[in-house]
Order: sequence, then structure tokens, then C-alpha cells
Amino acid sequence: MSAVRQVFGAVQRRAFSASTRQASKVTVLGAAGGIGQPLSLLLKLNPRVSELALYDIRLAPGVAADIGHINTKSTVTGYDPTPSGLRDCLKGSEIVLIPAGVPRKPGMTRDDLFNTNASIVRDLAKAAAESAPEANILVISNPVNSTVPITAEVFKSKGVYNPRRLFGVTTLDVVRASRFISQIKGTDPANENITVVGGHSGATIVPLLSQAGYELTGEQLDEYVHRVQFGGDEVVQAKGGAGSATLSMAMAGARFAESLLKAAQGQKGVIEPTFVDSPLFKDQGCDFFASNVELGPNGVEKIHPVGKITDYEQKLLDVCLGDLQKNIQKGVDFAKQNP
Ligand code: NAI
Repeated sequence: MSAVRQVFGAVQRRAFSASTRQASKVTVLGAAGGIGQPLSLLLKLNPRVSELALYDIRLAPGVAADIGHINTKSTVTGYDPTPSGLRDCLKGSEIVLIPAGVPRKPGMTRDDLFNTNASIVRDLAKAAAESAPEANILVISNPVNSTVPITAEVFKSKGVYNPRRLFGVTTLDVVRASRFISQIKGTDPANENITVVGGHSGATIVPLLSQAGYELTGEQLDEYVHRVQFGGDEVVQAKGGAGSATLSMAMAGARFAESLLKAAQGQKGVIEPTFVDSPLFKDQGCDFFASNVELGPNGVEKIHPVGKITDYEQKLLDVCLGDLQKNIQKGVDFAKQNP
């Protein structure tokens, strides 16, 4: 081996051991679903994860047995819904990802999922508040605009709410916004980073293309914004009733978990868009809002403001805030009326 390769190898080994120093238990609730399975697979491939705990109302031990054969170091355990299953799965978790619940079928909005998913998320949040009160909770189950406030209310009712550790996962909106602009401009999507603010459904998703220096106009701009806001519908329609985005969502969820682990393990300047308890629009009735957030060892480190936007984007934001306020209130009301 050449001297250069030897040195490079040593540097790589040092970097690897530094990044994997900390033991990190990551839990997936809803792990046997369309998102849960590929998400668990990607987490198994992440050297920052030392322990992977998978829970579902069906099939989690099977998924765990399968993924557990992959030759990476982390341990994988699957848990059934026995009285102690959920509790044991959650105990000691640093990150809890929640993709449990039903997905959309063609013609449905995310809000149409509320009746089923609100109680699923409430019950899982209760278990997390009891067994992993200090974990970072990453809510994927839709409608995120309402399931995040539900989770906050549950944690408040148990006296363990920490706004810095609750995240609605909106990463997929940014992934799509970056991919779609690259298709228009012929750029490498990996180098695109479009800011998306607001919430995670339809008109509450507000891409801020101007901040990336792009100046689309007229129909092209309208079409781009519509595609980012309703990109999920393309997948729902293409799957013809068999579900919504699962694979791209798994990638987005795994990316967000990786960012949190990096920040927890000391990396600075880790920024992800996410739907959090935010001061930005509280005066307009939105206690939660997605914007770029710097992550740190304690979760939310710094919430970035929306920044400079065009008149066009301001109009999108105004529509967003009206809808978002109602979605948030719906979640809060549900949690209070159905404790
Ligand atoms: P799926 O139906 O394929 O999987 C859901 C899984 O949750 C199933 O395995 C089911 O057994 C499990 N489950 C149901 N009730 C449970 C409970 N009480 N405890 C534990 N597990 C339970 O659905 P899919 O496609 O994985 O979607 C899951 C959720 O993620 C949906 O609500 C969907 O709308 C949402 N989603 C969110 C996105 C985002 O960007 N945040 C993107 C795409 C989907």
C-alpha cells in the first residue's frame, strides 16, 4: 500500500471512530409499513446508529430479522404490540421516528387522514412521553401540520414537553423542490438546496426559489410551485390506490435522522428544514412553522427566519398561514378533547 493510501486510511478510520463514538438507539414506530421498511433499512446502513428498535402492530420482528442480517454493526430488535413491547422498544431511544398510520389514496388530501392517524399518533406519543421523554421525536405520519401539535399536547399533558426535541419531518418537500428545479435548469440536484417554509400539505408548502437565486416567472413559476406543493399527488396517482410516497420519504427521513445524529455528535452548522414549535408566526396563530433550523446536541439550536422574499412568495406565505393556523388548531383541539 502506498504511503498516501496508508495515511488516507488512517484518517478515514479516525473520522469513522469519531463519528461512531456515541451509542445511539434509534426507534421506528410503524416499521413494517411502506415507509417504515426502507427507512429501517437505511438506518441499518448508518454507522452512527448503534441500536435499531422496530415496532409495528404487525410484522416488526420479521422486518428486524431480515434487516438484522445486514453486515453492519448495529443491533436490530423487532417488537410486537404486547403490553411491554412498545415500552421496551422506546426505552433509551435518542431518536424516535413515527411513520405509523394510513397513507393517502387518489383524491384524498392529507387532512382526510386525520380521523385515523390522529389517534394513532396520540397513542404512540403517549408511550414515547412515558418511556422516552427525552428523545428527539420525528413525526412523519400525516397530516404533519396537525400530528405535530397533537404530539406536543400529549407531551405537555405528561409534563415532559421540550419544544427543542419535537420535529415534523418536511425534508421530502425540500428534496422534491431541489429535484424539480434541477429538472428545469439541467443542474445537479445534489447541489440544489431550495428553502421551503410553512407546513407539509398543499398550499402550506411554500418554496422560496428566489433565495436560491432563481427567477422563474409566469406559468413556469406557477407550475413549479404547484409541483412542489402537490408533488406527493403524482406518487399517489401513479401508485393507483396502493399508497403514497414511501421510498423517497424513507430517504428523506433517514437524511433528517442522520443530521440530528451528526449534530448530537458535535458537528456544527447542521441545518435542515423542519416543522417545529417556532416563534416566527405565533402572533398570527401559528405556534408551529417549518423553516431552516440549525440542529445541535439539544435538538433545535437556532430557528432561521424566513428571510427576504418576493411579493409572489409573500402571497404564498399569506395563504399558507391561514391554512396552517386551522390545521394546528385542529390538532390541538383533538388532543384536548380526546386525551
Ligand atoms: P403504510 O400503511 O404502508 O404503513 C403504515 C404502518 O403503520 C403499517 O405497517 C401499520 O401496521 C403501522 N401502524 C398502524 N397503526 C399503528 C400503531 N398504532 N402502532 C404502530 N404501527 C402502526 O403507510 P406508509 O406509506 O408507510 O405511510 C405512513 C404515514 O406517513 C402516512 O400517514 C403517510 O401519509 C405519511 N407520509 C408522510 C410523508 C412526509 O413527508 N412527512 C411523506 C409520505 C407519507
